[in-house]
Amino acid sequence: MPEQIGKIVVTKDEISLAVRNIAECIINDNPDKNSFVFVTVLEGAKYFADDLIKEISELKDVRIRNECIKLSSYDKTESTGKIKIEKDIKLDLFSKDVLIVEDIVDTGFTLSFLKDYLLKVKKARTVKICSLLDKPSTRRIDVDIDYKGFDVPDKFVIGYGLDYEQKFRELPYVAELIEEE
Ligand code: IMP
Ligand code: MG
Repeated sequence: MPEQIGKIVVTKDEISLAVRNIAECIINDNPDKNSFVFVTVLEGAKYFADDLIKEISELKDVRIRNECIKLSSYDKTESTGKIKIEKDIKLDLFSKDVLIVEDIVDTGFTLSFLKDYLLKVKKARTVKICSLLDKPSTRRIDVDIDYKGFDVPDKFVIGYGLDYEQKFRELPYVAELIEEE
């Protein structure tokens, strides 16, 4: 039996509401800012980042520079803990305030690496984290999430950008994966 879509853990409507709420929080926390620098973690978070950016710009006339970084750490459904930069950021982040946009925080290795990299190597002034999903029960390294949509159980989830071997990203909701026996 090929892998299948299991129980829906976050619906399309719940995602839309959360994206709206996060957009409002980001604007309210930065009343004087009229430009933002986002660093979106490819591939998974680009679906979330695109919607978040549209919501923010619907709420306020701000400029958003969205830089993408491609990282890899996973081998099928297991985190290896070793993070590799597959595609780096071009923009100079020196002394900039940066918001990382991520799809899900699991072990925390990816975001802990990325936050460190943006602060120490790219010399950003501040780095905040925004993640649509969080799996707190599987955390191996501490990560402060400044903006978060939902906690999800310790199950491999797919949809709204999240993939299993490049499949299921297109689903408008987040669901559990039923793995092949
Ligand atoms: P971490 O380094 O373990 O926190 O993993 C973060 C990355 O692993 C995320 O950016 C996702 O791309 C991927 N990931 C973690 N959990 C899942 C999941 O349940 N479904 C799909 N991808 C996941
Ligand atoms: Mg990701």
